[in-house]
Parts: sequence; C-alpha cells; structure tokens
Amino acid sequence: MDISKAFPSRARIAMTAFLAITVALITLSISTDAFSTVPTKNSLSLSTSTMQQFTSSTRLEMNKKGKSKSKPKKKSGSSSPKGFAAALRDLQEKGFKFSGDVRPGKQSPQRVVNNPRIIVPDYAVDGQPKNRGPLLPWLIEVKKPEEIAKMRISGRIAREVLDIGARAIRPGVTTDEVDRAVHEACLERGGYPSPLNYHGFPKSCCTSVNEIICHGIPDDRKLVEGDIINLDITCYVDGYHGDCSEMFMVGECDDAAKRLIQTTYDSWVKSLEFVKPGRDYKDIGAIIEDHIVPKGYSTVKNFCGHGIGSVFHTAPNILHYRNNEPNGQMAAGHTFTIEPMICEGTNRPITWTDQWTAATADGGRTAQFEHTLIITPDGVEPMTAKIPGHSKVQFWEMESEVHKGFWLGTTPAGRARAAKFLEELQQGVLP
Ligand code: MF3
Ligand code: CO
Ligand code: CO
Repeated sequence: MDISKAFPSRARIAMTAFLAITVALITLSISTDAFSTVPTKNSLSLSTSTMQQFTSSTRLEMNKKGKSKSKPKKKSGSSSPKGFAAALRDLQEKGFKFSGDVRPGKQSPQRVVNNPRIIVPDYAVDGQPKNRGPLLPWLIEVKKPEEIAKMRISGRIAREVLDIGARAIRPGVTTDEVDRAVHEACLERGGYPSPLNYHGFPKSCCTSVNEIICHGIPDDRKLVEGDIINLDITCYVDGYHGDCSEMFMVGECDDAAKRLIQTTYDSWVKSLEFVKPGRDYKDIGAIIEDHIVPKGYSTVKNFCGHGIGSVFHTAPNILHYRNNEPNGQMAAGHTFTIEPMICEGTNRPITWTDQWTAATADGGRTAQFEHTLIITPDGVEPMTAKIPGHSKVQFWEMESEVHKGFWLGTTPAGRARAAKFLEELQQGVLP
C-alpha cells in the first residue's frame, strides 16, 4: 500500500487535532484513504514527520477513464472518445524517461464480475472505497471470531488463486494471461478480485516485473526468460479481503536475482517471526532493514503493509524500515499484512504515467513477499499460508537461513504443520 495514502501519521494527527482548516484543505487536495502502497512524491510533507506524507489523489482520477465498474462499462462517448485521451497518453508517455527495460504494453478490456452471487466491495462500481477506518493510527480493530473465520477463508482462497496464477508464469506468457487465470480462479471460488477498480485500478491483480516495485498492471507484455515477477493477489470473499504476494522466476535467473529474492524472503520471514501480542508494530521495520542493508540492498519507504479485513487498507501502517511512528501495539485478533519491497539499487520510486506502476528510479530490480496475518494469543499465523501439495516450493524456502520449508506461523500448531511438511518434502513424499 502506498504510504502517501496510508494511514494518518503523527503529523496528520496533529493537524487533525489542531487545525480544522488545514484538515479541510488536505481533504480537498489529497487522498485520505488508508491505502498502503502509494507513492510519496507530489506529497505534502507535514511538519515533524518525515515518514508520513500524502499524495494528491489526482493519480487515481486518471485511471478511471476507461473503467470503473464491476459490470462491463463502455466508454460512452459521443466525442472522439478513444482518439483524444489515447493520444494525450501517448504524448505523455513519449516524454517519460523509463528507468529500466520494462515498458507498458496494451491492456485488454477490463474484466467484469457479474455473478449476482458474488458479494462485491463498496468501490466495485465507482472506484471509491467508502470506509475510512479509525481516526488514529494506533487504534486497531480486534476482529471477532466470526470475522476471523471468514478471513481465513478469504486468505485461503487468495493463496489458491496465487498458486493458480503462478502456474501460468513462464516465458512467452503475457501478464494479461496471468490476470485472466487469476480473475477466473477468484470468481470460481465465489470471490471478487479486490484490485479490480480499487481506486480505479484496471485489472484483477498486480504483476510487477524486474524494476517494478509494485502495482504493475497486467498487459500484453510477454514474460521473458530471466525475468523476476511479483504476483500480488487479493480476494474479497463474503465481505473480507485476503492479500498475499510472492516472487517467481521466469525460467532460469541470474545469481544476483536469486540473491535479491533470497534476501528479501529472509528479511520478511524474520519480521514475521517477530510478531506476537505486546510488541510494537513500528519495530517490524528495523528487523527488515537490518537484514538487508548489510547485504547491500535498500528497503522501500513509500509503500507499506496495512491492516486488512472488511476494508482493504486500514490501520495499522506497517513500515518496512526503521522508524518511530506511533503505529500501535500488537494484540490477539489483529489482522494485517507485512509486505517489504527490497531493491538492488535505490529505493526511490518513480511512477509511470499510468499513475499506478511504481518502478525503481534507477531501474534496479526489486522483490517483495506478502502475507495476511492473524495475531493469536500465542503468536501469529498466516491466513494466506502456503498449501502443502498445492503451492510451489521455492528454492529460497528450502535454502533459507531463517526458516526452512513453508512458513506456517509461530503458534505450536503452525510450527507442527510446517515441521511435518518439511519432513515429507525431505523424504520425497510430496512434490
Ligand atoms: N495488493 C496490494 C497490497 O498489497 C494492493 C493493490 S491495490 C491495487 O496492498 F489497486 F493496486 F490493486
Ligand atoms: Co497485496
Ligand atoms: Co497488501
């Protein structure tokens, strides 16, 4: 989630408390939604906080032309519809300096969800999430057992859909084909693909290749041997979101790519292991930073993890770098994501003219992993846990210096399941 849309920071709180007029101005000119992964440029830097900034919401407007519904929507346009907007976009794109080799391709028509039995989120039709979440970033909702039960289902479905999307990944396949597999698998399971029309996002998942940090839009670009790709899946099922992402190699990759992915994975698992009731959310960031910096990498500051539930992005903000933000204390019943983005070179993003795609400013590659987590009285479990026998086993899981095999949480039950699966793997019982 984009930090600029992320949750109110200390600075924001001060503003809210003391300056009604300023708040009114902010409300006018920036997005107030909690929505983690958004860029910080164009942002107002508010007084004391270096971290929390807010972006102009204009980027969201742009994405809306073309699509806005869960139902097929034609551009109604008596005016020369296609021509003008498209020409303008081309012009903008011509002047844009891409940082790496990845280029925008052609997007297929927006996919639709018209099954009346599928519950759609409040933004499905107009692109605007309505629920703003709590006023203060340390006020974190404790989910009721019934909600947790539903989120386990959304999380499980998101993982199944991620696994299915992943099976489409190979050289020559377009990211749009991956998106189609994802879209269909999500609907088959009674889910709505959460990214679809979220703040106007045009597709059903994010496919971020090589130097793309996050929010890559599936299009007709073919995957090439040696690419690395993050596939980010969120499914909305029975009123709750489950959000996860994972890296995949397209064919064989160079050693530097493997090191990047291994390091990102290990830093992420270290941070997952840290989670338990009573700890501070702010302390997650230093664990990640301290793992990756000595290995020569940087961690993205402009996008963060987030609380999740009936709302896609809400409190707490999960920063993946050392910080001292008042983002609250962990407690049983909290559900949130950790989703660090780690870069070969600079962690500074530049946003493409599509107003979504975030690339590294220097074109260096970047990797990311994400789980939706539930804190329990005795630890933490991934609601988007990998599924033994279904999910692909990756080399960075088997060669991890932090945790070998699938990471299935720190509760006794989670540890036991992970250990059993690892044993089966090592005995060659399971694929
Ligand atoms: N799944 C992303 C996250 O981890 C959010 C994608 S929102 C979209 O928070 F609009 F870009 F799809
Ligand atoms: Co995600
Ligand atoms: Co997320």
